[in-house]
Amino acid sequence: MSHTALPALSQGVNDLRASEIRELLKLINRPEIISFAGGIPDPEMFPLDKIGTAYAAVLADPALARDAFQYSISEGYPPLREWIVGYLKSHGIEAALERVLITSGAQQALDFLGRAFIEAGDPVVVTDPSYLGAIQVFGTYRPRFIAVPMDNEGAKLAELREAFAQKPKFFYLTPDFCNPAGITTSLARREAILDLAHEFGVAILEDSPYEELRYDGARIPSFAALECQRRAKNPALPALVIYIGSLSKVLTPALRIGWIAADGALINKLVLLKQASDLHCSTVNQIIANDIARTSHANQVAKLRSTYKLRRDAMLAALKRSMPIEVHWSIPDGGMFIWLEFPDSVDCTALLERAIKEENVAFVPGSAFYATQPKRNTARLSFSLGAPERIEQGIERLATLVRNILQANSAAA
Ligand SMILES: Cc1ncc(COP(=O)(O)O)c(C=O)c1O
Repeated sequence: MSHTALPALSQGVNDLRASEIRELLKLINRPEIISFAGGIPDPEMFPLDKIGTAYAAVLADPALARDAFQYSISEGYPPLREWIVGYLKSHGIEAALERVLITSGAQQALDFLGRAFIEAGDPVVVTDPSYLGAIQVFGTYRPRFIAVPMDNEGAKLAELREAFAQKPKFFYLTPDFCNPAGITTSLARREAILDLAHEFGVAILEDSPYEELRYDGARIPSFAALECQRRAKNPALPALVIYIGSLSKVLTPALRIGWIAADGALINKLVLLKQASDLHCSTVNQIIANDIARTSHANQVAKLRSTYKLRRDAMLAALKRSMPIEVHWSIPDGGMFIWLEFPDSVDCTALLERAIKEENVAFVPGSAFYATQPKRNTARLSFSLGAPERIEQGIERLATLVRNILQANSAAA
């Protein structure tokens, strides 16, 4: 029998590691587990009736159906791009059809932008912690990550200035209710970061899948909107903000609709990348997304806000009631995540193992979300799934375990 060894993998692919999130997603389906791990939208909230009606309407119209199941242009379905342009305008972003590319979710947008900008060894700045999927996909292009810590207003400016002085290709962040830390970048911090970006000529990759999921306070203008205001006064100012949007969290992730809104010359290149990569997003899904975005986006936002707010409040109240005082957590104004920081003696991977075995509770250890130096005493809890009572129960169980561990640690010390 002959064995043929495959050639060595490229370094970027070889370095990929299975994500702890993917392994943990398997646990969500076991009924006895209360899982705060997933970080996915609640499927009960999907607008299934609207989706059904939209598909039926396509199939009932032979001409439309023929187009819907045909190849289509790489830029994306024009009516959906028009809806996106209108959506962006309503949030102060001066977009135009030729400055919008539809991608297969925000994740593909991150992939394309990584591929477009990163040569191996290029510095790239991310927040510390950052969205795992961004770290993973940028990592395949082998940048030198510079991770900038955050306070409760966002990335710290002194550290960001030092990072920008190293001439990175871009700064990647999720300004609203970030995944995983739940922090929102304040308006003052956004303006200061934009100043820095223009001072050093660093692109800002603004990833905003959660921006509609706000439960408290007023919307803060996006980096893209703030830059538009500045460019209206000073048209010579370059457009450094690249805005990434997604329908995954408001409508449904399975349609795989995201977009990039950016400078027209960049979009032209990215369209070629889209063509080379997968030609275009599913035509029929774009037609459906256009239909339900127009009929249901606003209703969905209202429904999600009121449901997730109750769940966030339940988790925050249960944490306050039951967690030992040595444990700290973020208080997010929106999104799906609360970030926990335990005393240094707590290793959250070990905590997770025990939480699953002893208490039937799951979460994601925070170490997965660091591009450079993992902090093992952190954890991400998602509150998007499950009734408030079940969330409370899960937090109480986790708190009991944490209390026992802290007591055992202090007795051993
Ligand atoms: C910050 C962030 N960016 C991007 C994505 C990917 O979203 P999409 O479904 O649009 O690809 C996620 C998904 O969880 C996310 O949390």
